[in-house]
Amino acid sequence: MSGVRRGSPDLERASAVLAARGCSLGAPLVIAEETGSTNDDAKQGARSGAPHGAVWLAESQTVGRGRQGRAWLSPRGENLLFSVLLRLRCAPARVPPVSLVAGLAVRDAVARALGPSADADVVVKWPNDVMVRGSQGGGLRKIAGVLVESALSGSKVEYVVVGIGINVLTRTLPEDLAAIATSIALERDARGGEGSLPELDRAEILADVLAGLERDVELVAHKGLGLAHARLTRHDALLGRAVESVGDGDVRGTASGIDLDGRLLVRRADGTLVHVASGEMRLRLA
Ligand code: BTN
Repeated sequence: MSGVRRGSPDLERASAVLAARGCSLGAPLVIAEETGSTNDDAKQGARSGAPHGAVWLAESQTVGRGRQGRAWLSPRGENLLFSVLLRLRCAPARVPPVSLVAGLAVRDAVARALGPSADADVVVKWPNDVMVRGSQGGGLRKIAGVLVESALSGSKVEYVVVGIGINVLTRTLPEDLAAIATSIALERDARGGEGSLPELDRAEILADVLAGLERDVELVAHKGLGLAHARLTRHDALLGRAVESVGDGDVRGTASGIDLDGRLLVRRADGTLVHVASGEMRLRLA
């Protein structure tokens, strides 16, 4: 296991925080000063026999990646960049629901860090982007993303790697991202400072995400979305909104919820219902 970066006292406490919370995910916790991509570290770990629940976290990534082949950039030491190895011997069809509940776990952790008055403003944009509604009624800004990668063994899933990037302490965003991205620190500032909220602590946010994931993941992998479906609906950023597919595919219509297989439902203008299994949707201006 690599050492903890000096100068990151919040993360030095991470293993102790996880143990105190009785979290079974996060053991072992491997913390690197710099890596290529924590998803690659987790996949390498999976191939070398690392156990269910192992987590790789880095203060910076040289080739961090997001969904749809995008890069994931994050200044060193400011945010949370980590990947969780889940050894779920489930059917491949259960990977999309697992990916959705990973987004929910991140949403809940971000909402907790922003405090109760912001709870309704923290939403999940299908499949698992975590977004925040501006406190002054502004548009949605992305605060966290989830990249799920899995490997099969025969007809079963051998492992799932859940890679998570959360903008925590960053206050300066590149010009091209400033209008569409945000961080927990920026949102706290915009909502009138930290007030009575505890100081931001990345170890606590990591523990919140892992506890949320632990609560849902086995059940969803083996029994389906079930009770998590109502929570997905409650925090669905797209529900009732005009949407269109990005890139390939030409789905346009009104987002009408998520089905039990984790597909986005889109009602076309002609009344037909499309079940979108993959890809990305954007909000369409009326
Ligand atoms: C997205 O929104 O497109 C997904 C972003 C996922 C980024 C995280 S950071 C930790 C892990 N390692 C990676 O290379 N990507 C994920």
